[in-house]
Amino acid sequence: MIQVENVNKIFNEGTVQAFEALKDVNLEVKKGETVILSGVSGSGKSTLLSLIAALDKPSSGKIVVNNTLISKLPDLHASEYRATSIGVVFQHFNLLEALSVKENVLSPLVNSGLTLSEVENMAKKSMGMAAIFHKADQQVKELSGGEKQRCAIARALVHAPPLIICDEPTANLDKENTLKFIDILKNLHNSGTTIIVATHDPLFETLPFVNRVLHMQEGKIVKQKQ
Ligand SMILES: Nc1ncnc2c1ncn2[C@@H]1O[C@H](COP(=O)(O)OP(=O)(O)OP(=O)(O)O)[C@@H](O)[C@H]1O
Ligand SMILES: [Mg+2]
Repeated sequence: MIQVENVNKIFNEGTVQAFEALKDVNLEVKKGETVILSGVSGSGKSTLLSLIAALDKPSSGKIVVNNTLISKLPDLHASEYRATSIGVVFQHFNLLEALSVKENVLSPLVNSGLTLSEVENMAKKSMGMAAIFHKADQQVKELSGGEKQRCAIARALVHAPPLIICDEPTANLDKENTLKFIDILKNLHNSGTTIIVATHDPLFETLPFVNRVLHMQEGKIVKQKQ
């Protein structure tokens, strides 16, 4: 499903501030696998995820997702790829603060060709799964950190994408909501969704449905636990 080949990412390339955030990264994720990305702050987890999500491009190397060459995708096609093939829970949520929870959650379904009632039903189901339905009509800027995180989770799931990428999805959640989120992941895994989660939380490394734990250090994948 995902092939990352010899990927390098240099920020501010060609300047004195040039920084090599990813160094010759190779990774293969099979369809239906759940993979955890661990590693200290600054090791390159978010950078790698943003390349797989086609939010940024590698400096060199190749990324293929579902037979599409993501690393060379023109912007228009990149947004189409994100709208149809992938759900992303961002580390910093990337929600539209002035819009309601429901409006944020259903945003991936705009231009999908679905009817309004289909869109409403999918949003409702997703908000229910992420335990944020009770705040559906509230503006995002009025939510707590954990509520924003659950809104971001609902938005990532709403179009039932075959690939889900989560960047520190539980950093703002309490124990109860973390366990709820893990349960959502387990159900997605059981229904065949491919999942990648970057997290500092050691709880994820011990989950029985996790296939692999990859450890990143200074821009490289240095260890793998099966
Ligand atoms: N746009 C950017 N410009 C310059 N440097 C960047 C940029 N984005 C990330 N970096 C640098 O690349 C390195 C890797 O960052 P990244 O966000 O991938 O780390 P991370 O493993 O996700 O860390 P955390 O656990 O804190 O989220 C960091 O040293 C960071 O400062
Ligand atoms: Mg990060």
